[in-house]
Amino acid sequence: MEHFIINGGKALSGKIRVQGSKNGALPVLAAAVLVKGQCIIHNCPYLTDVDAAVEILKYLGCTVKRESSTLTIDSGTINRYDIPEVLMREMRSSIVFMGSVLGRTGKARMCAPGGCEIGLRPIDLHLSSLETLGVCITNRMGVLECEAPNGIIGAEITLSFPSVGATENIMLASAVSKGTTTVTNAAREPEIDCLADFLNSCGADIHICGDGRVVINGVSSLHGTEHTVLPDRIAAATFVSAAAATNGDILLQSVRPEHLKTVLSVFSDAGSEIEAYGDTIRIKGRGRLRMLRGVRTMPYPGFPTDAQAPVMAAACLADGTSIIVENIFESRFKHAPGLIKMGAKIKIEDRVAVIDGVERLYGARVEATDLRGGSALAVAGFAAQGTTRIYNIHHIDRGYEKFENSFASLGADIIRKSD
Ligand code: UD1
Repeated sequence: MEHFIINGGKALSGKIRVQGSKNGALPVLAAAVLVKGQCIIHNCPYLTDVDAAVEILKYLGCTVKRESSTLTIDSGTINRYDIPEVLMREMRSSIVFMGSVLGRTGKARMCAPGGCEIGLRPIDLHLSSLETLGVCITNRMGVLECEAPNGIIGAEITLSFPSVGATENIMLASAVSKGTTTVTNAAREPEIDCLADFLNSCGADIHICGDGRVVINGVSSLHGTEHTVLPDRIAAATFVSAAAATNGDILLQSVRPEHLKTVLSVFSDAGSEIEAYGDTIRIKGRGRLRMLRGVRTMPYPGFPTDAQAPVMAAACLADGTSIIVENIFESRFKHAPGLIKMGAKIKIEDRVAVIDGVERLYGARVEATDLRGGSALAVAGFAAQGTTRIYNIHHIDRGYEKFENSFASLGADIIRKSD
């Protein structure tokens, strides 16, 4: 089993280019299904989740070529509308293929995506929204048979929660459709803008209104394009957390500081020196962090739930008591037991974590239980005294490109080993 061995206690410093966004790339890859032509997509990170999306594209009949971080997808040859269970179970976000396959073929057959490690993650909002757009969905022993007998027809949809995936699925299903779809209380995450930019550059007519409304005027077809995926704000938040936890000095390049406002203000209030200009962020430790305030996860532009775990790792070493509230997912503190094993003082009560900062963490043998939780253990490991071994690192490989190389380039003593 592969694992990371980290000899901690070194301040991380240096420059690092932030990878393309996982959550930005996946819906864009799904969107390529809608296009009867060639899409060239730059800044696609090397991740197992991206590999899983490529496998789905190939299964559907697309030709996909990778050259460095550029994927070229030709969907002209699509000849299927089903996705087998084994591919759906690979990753949760395979659900966005439902909207794009329906938009392209008028049909889709797939099971619900893998039950996830951070909460129930139902897909009721995806399904009810697609039904509002004219899709008939039948659940046959766990397989969702979807069909739009009269095509996708524009409609008014109000989401009860601004679900990222449901907003993306609505955009994907209705980009090529009859009429206009208006989504109220849509997600406002930057990845939604990235998807709209991609679709609009293919000839779609989508407006992100800024007040939580997305208006999609259906068009009759989409053409090929070239697009660059936005930088990964969660990978950036992980580097920021590692710099703060180790009292380091890191310059992030190819990043959008405006997407990280809430994370940066938490660390700047806690004493880190932060400079953001152009597409760079520099974070420099100024001694021990003060307790972290304002970590209450919310839909964008609130504090991102995906950054909660690595930020908690830094909070473990802060001077004072930090309180973290997780409002998005119900089981997203699974990294806490690993951190406690390393010496952290954390109490969890439902969706609230109370972290009494300690002066030192100590290396331990820990297991990643999910993607961001895994990165939190690594952040703690970089700051801890002694050796940390992190198992189940396939979770980390889902979302971080060459994790150990990136952190080693910043001075971390980390290697990947297989037993
Ligand atoms: C996306 C991100 C994930 C991030 C999350 C919240 C991708 C690939 N993943 O996940 O990294 O943590 O946004 O920012 O982009 N919900 C329902 N019913 C639904 C859909 C969602 O109840 O039909 C609930 C979820 O259980 C969760 C909340 O809504 O509690 C947010 O989920 P959602 O925004 O849909 O997250 P994802 O799109 O799955």
